[in-house]
Amino acid sequence: MDYHPIKKPNVKNMKVKPNLIKRTGGKGNAVWDGIQQELSWLPGGTLNMAHECIDRHAEGAGKDRKALLWEGKEGEKETYTFGQLKEESNKFANVLKELGIKKGDRVFMFMERVPELYIAIFGALKLGAVVGPLFSAFGPDPVKDRLFDSGARILLTQPALRRRIADILPDLPELEHIIVVNKNNRDPDPFVKGDLNYDDLMKRATSELEIARTSMYDYSVMHYTSGTTGKPKGAAHCHFAVVQQYATGKWVLDFHKDDLYWCTADPGWVTGTSYGMFAPWSNGVTQLIYEGGFKASMWYELIQRYKVTVWYSAPTAIRMLMKAGEDIPARYDLSSLRHINSVGEPLNPEAIVWGLKVFNQAIHDNWWQTETGAILIANIPAMDVRPGSMGRPIPGIEAAIISDSFDKLPPGKEGNLAIRPGWPSMFRTYWKNAEMYNSRFRKGWYITGDRARMDEDGYFWFVGRTDDVINSAGHLVGPFEVESVLIEHPAVVEAGVIGKPDPIAMEVVKAFVALRDGYEPTEELRRDIMAFARKKLAAAVAPREIDFIPSLPKTRSGKIMRRLLKARELGLPEGDTSTLEED
Ligand code: PRX
Repeated sequence: MDYHPIKKPNVKNMKVKPNLIKRTGGKGNAVWDGIQQELSWLPGGTLNMAHECIDRHAEGAGKDRKALLWEGKEGEKETYTFGQLKEESNKFANVLKELGIKKGDRVFMFMERVPELYIAIFGALKLGAVVGPLFSAFGPDPVKDRLFDSGARILLTQPALRRRIADILPDLPELEHIIVVNKNNRDPDPFVKGDLNYDDLMKRATSELEIARTSMYDYSVMHYTSGTTGKPKGAAHCHFAVVQQYATGKWVLDFHKDDLYWCTADPGWVTGTSYGMFAPWSNGVTQLIYEGGFKASMWYELIQRYKVTVWYSAPTAIRMLMKAGEDIPARYDLSSLRHINSVGEPLNPEAIVWGLKVFNQAIHDNWWQTETGAILIANIPAMDVRPGSMGRPIPGIEAAIISDSFDKLPPGKEGNLAIRPGWPSMFRTYWKNAEMYNSRFRKGWYITGDRARMDEDGYFWFVGRTDDVINSAGHLVGPFEVESVLIEHPAVVEAGVIGKPDPIAMEVVKAFVALRDGYEPTEELRRDIMAFARKKLAAAVAPREIDFIPSLPKTRSGKIMRRLLKARELGLPEGDTSTLEED
């Protein structure tokens, strides 16, 4: 460990906007220094994301500009200006204040994409609380792990989601209040005794508020991300991240004030916050938020009806549109689209060729991670897209391909993708796991866990991951999490989980399970185990396929050899099996 990025500068007495050139390592920090001057900051050199995204527009010419155009899954429509978002988020901040929430407390949201989710996130940020939005498709187990680990004091949720996780709530000693949003009175029986009603609280709250003077190194947002082993880790970001989210909104997504932007990601994942909230709104851009899920005709209709100009989506979604055929888009006017971007998985060249045909333009791939907080490598609009490449590092970022001993490798060589630490949106800890955090920094580099190569012109090409984490439809799935749930099933004695290649989702989760004595490997049992996992986890995370095997290949120290399971599944050479346990 040779990098200590958690140190906070003393910003209390600063008269001018902080100059980070000296503080952060790596080249190009003059870039970030320049960008910092474009944000408005708060007195004393303090910085709060909610101020940058909402209040600075609401207090200026952007007051009546539309910030959010919402379309609900039942076709409902709502519009909020920056001025209205300021008022509403101020009220929610006062609600939390009344409940005793202070700077640094964790406030989590388990919500569908409704305006109240966005209002609550900015309200909590205004108090200096740390927000943690959770994917609304999760089952009880992932929600419990995240609420428990973060020690969240407040959970904002909706009636049906609350019912789904009712059993885990008694196991969360630090959770003090559950606030329930019964959106448009959709639910006939919304509240359980002891719950707080969002609408009642908001009616009583005032909209007078002074935003917390958060330092740029105060934590703001947490997203849990999966690794090969152990439970998911809470990657925590600071208010400073907004500097880079703002900059990449301009440089990569090419935001202009009159844009109508649509990000299809859910705020339960990092793209849905960094680019579904902070990047567009720090740039004062109007965005569409659609509560519903994927349906090709509906997506094209939304682009046509809202005249979407800038669109940020993911390869799986693009492949699903491809699969739905070219007749559907031909029925819609998609000419408003000016710039299309993709992230989360490799964007295959066929998808780019298809985009040229259907949208009349190239889809621009870019690369980043939960830990990086914002885009680091991109095909920016000014560059020629190289189909299959993630693009080049954005200004201010130094990326390299390094060997396993952390030395830079020349162009053309495959190796570990690494980034020089110190970029503004860098995660600043894994919650309560500083050791794991520090292990990600080696010899002056942040090690991303991805393998890639760089060509002679500095374009980066994704090769794969260095760990066993599965990327299914852009969602990272930790095999350990799935295995832990599978072995809770009474029939399962051990389980090993791998990613199986899939033409649409890139990978799907496949499990190998060994049964306890006395259980027969029947079709009915397979379905039962699958349903069990889906109920506890989420459809996106649970195994799509289960094979029964007599026992799992393990190392002599008892670790399941997922690599071997995968090689066997794909019919590939088994590689080094010298550590394999003897039967
Ligand atoms: O393996 C890379 C893949 O997704 C991982 C990050 O996932 P997550 O932390 O969930 O963040 C998703 C939002 C960016 C990376 O380590 N990945 C991301 N972008 C690309 C990609 N793989 C290939 N090409 C990309 N453009």
